[in-house]
Amino acid sequence: MIRFESVTKRYPDGTTAVDDLSFEVAEGELVTLVGPSGCGKTTTMKMVNRLIDPTGGRILVEGEDIATADPVRLRRRIGYVIQQTGLFPHRTVLDNTATVPHLLGWARKKSRARAAELLGLVGLDPGLHGPRYPDQLSGGERQRVGVARALAADPPVLLMDEPF
Ligand SMILES: Nc1ncnc2c1ncn2[C@@H]1O[C@H](COP(=O)(O)OP(=O)(O)OP(=O)(O)O)[C@@H](O)[C@H]1O
Ligand SMILES: [Mg+2]
Repeated sequence: MIRFESVTKRYPDGTTAVDDLSFEVAEGELVTLVGPSGCGKTTTMKMVNRLIDPTGGRILVEGEDIATADPVRLRRRIGYVIQQTGLFPHRTVLDNTATVPHLLGWARKKSRARAAELLGLVGLDPGLHGPRYPDQLSGGERQRVGVARALAADPPVLLMDEPF
């Protein structure tokens, strides 16, 4: 499903964030990256959906070398829970959760029903929390919206950067 082959990321200032990393994640597998602050976890995850491009090595997703993949098409197959949530502040909680179904062109009613279902799944009340804006939630509630948003279109790959 995901394969890293000798992946390295060196930032322009000379920092080596990821050094010759190889691993494979099979379909259905749950993998956790554990390590001290600054060791390269976020950088590793962002390279999977091409928010960051490696300076060396190769990454395959579902057998495809992502260096030549269309980033937008790639990201639609990958749910991403961003460290510090990254919700859209000007959109309601329900609309935030429906982001990807909306981008995929689902009918509005179907996207909103799916978003409401997922808010329920993460323990939020779609009627109460759905119409609010992110700054009207607690920090933990916001994080749960981030998880619901990433799950919305049931993507084959889910990246979660300190979601809890
Ligand atoms: N744009 C950048 N330019 C230079 N160095 C960077 C840049 N972004 C991150 N780094 C450095 O790369 C290293 C890895 O950062 P990364 O964000 O991947 O760490 P992390 O393991 O996710 O840490 P944390 O647990 O604190 O979230 C750190 O030393 C960081 O300072
Ligand atoms: Mg991080």
